[in-house]
Amino acid sequence: MRRAGDARGNTRELFKLDAALVNDERVGESEQSGAKPVGGASKSFYLKTFGCQMNVYDSERMMEQLTAQGYTETPTLEAADLVILNTCHIREKAAEKIYSDLGRIRDIKNARSREGKATVVAVAGCVAQAEGAQIVARQPAVDIVVGPQGYHRLGELIGRVQRTRAPVVETDFTENAKFEQLPTVRGRQTPSAFLTIQEGCDKFCTFCVVPYTRGQEFSRPVDQIVAEARRLVEAGAAEITLLGQNVNAYHGAYDGSRADGPPASLADLLGALAQIDGVVRLRYMTSHPRDMSDDLIAAHRDIPEVMPFLHLPVQSGSDAMLSAMNRRHTASDYVELIGRVRQARPDIALSSDFIVGFPGETDADFEDTLRLVRNIGFAQSFSFKYSPRPGTPAADRDGQVPEAVKHERLQRLQGELEQQQLAYNAGFIGRQVLVLVERTGREPGTLVGRTPYLQLIHFDGDAALIGQVVPVTVTASRQMSLTGVIGGV
Ligand code: 5AD
Ligand code: SF4
Repeated sequence: MRRAGDARGNTRELFKLDAALVNDERVGESEQSGAKPVGGASKSFYLKTFGCQMNVYDSERMMEQLTAQGYTETPTLEAADLVILNTCHIREKAAEKIYSDLGRIRDIKNARSREGKATVVAVAGCVAQAEGAQIVARQPAVDIVVGPQGYHRLGELIGRVQRTRAPVVETDFTENAKFEQLPTVRGRQTPSAFLTIQEGCDKFCTFCVVPYTRGQEFSRPVDQIVAEARRLVEAGAAEITLLGQNVNAYHGAYDGSRADGPPASLADLLGALAQIDGVVRLRYMTSHPRDMSDDLIAAHRDIPEVMPFLHLPVQSGSDAMLSAMNRRHTASDYVELIGRVRQARPDIALSSDFIVGFPGETDADFEDTLRLVRNIGFAQSFSFKYSPRPGTPAADRDGQVPEAVKHERLQRLQGELEQQQLAYNAGFIGRQVLVLVERTGREPGTLVGRTPYLQLIHFDGDAALIGQVVPVTVTASRQMSLTGVIGGV
């Protein structure tokens, strides 16, 4: 199954592709007339995923539906009867990219049309949710706009476009009918699989579009998640990463048919999943400090399948900024919380997201962030310049920070974080780590896997080891990866 390259664990790369809408130019009409409807024996689709792992999961579910309907995936845009962009709206930059991609897709659609071939163009994901019909107004080559809660109806929407030739916009938040209506069978899995357990967010951080694009917090029931995890294992997965915008706020019913009982916490869910034969490793992301409950901290100590890795965004080390961001915790709350996590699991690898240049951020606020970073010591991190998002409270605030200042602060913060990651990885040289082998490497005879701490590691070995956990001794380290040899040195 296709994934967004090496995207997992490298959210930085993915988030670079974020979308938003800034280009106000109108583009020309597409040529639709005379084209044959999509159909026949060899329907093919091209799907491009932007943004976070939740989009990667959604793309997999779309691909499964399309495969069930007789489509095959093509890596070539020109060959595709159906083109889908699964988009991200979290920061501004990549929307320009979406619209430039759409311009290119329009040209290809027109060229195909001249050859008598129809092309259906769909925009899915968070830009679709945020922009709705405006997308079709700006780029008439788009036939379908479908938000994250509506993609289970993709087949039906394609059919409607083919019948009516009119664009469709599906951006209702239809009470999470999606998971019940998606096919239960999961496609072939790589050893490490994603499973969305929670969607939406009620936190309303003042910089963030997620509460608007993904809606209210919603947790899938435990029985439904366990059933999906079993199917992932049957399809070849050994590690499951539970996904949610606010995953540790998870509070699903045990039994999907009875929503009235006491809810399960994320720790309860991890305990249930760890019982499944074949589930070797469990991870979860992304968490909020306010929802880091004692039972979840204890799960890192008590459940061996729960990996010693925690992505817990702090965003800033300044209490004034944290308050302006509506984060509902202080810097010292975060430090104290990390202390408790480390007490439960001393070797835990820590990861965070940071925003620099939030409105009103002074040099002193930024220094507080650097101080927090030095105080905690992160194994890896993601850091971003504040990007004003239309409709969010911080976007219109006074005190917007000049681009040059944001740039300079980001450079300094990333310099510090890179040093920490280098030092963290260098500390593994000579140590033996258990590695889940994920795939073959670029050179023949090489393999790539992940340590418990989510580091990427390269080593020589036979492809038959893919899907197994093997001991590897680390021989060299870089910022983004390790190198090792199977067994001892
Ligand atoms: N500007 C910059 N970064 C943002 N993030 C979310 N919204 C914005 C924004 N408007 C970052 C946060 C979040 C991560 C997924 O993206 O750090 O944790
Ligand atoms: Fe966005 Fe996360 Fe804040 Fe929710 S908790 S509003 S998803 S940054």
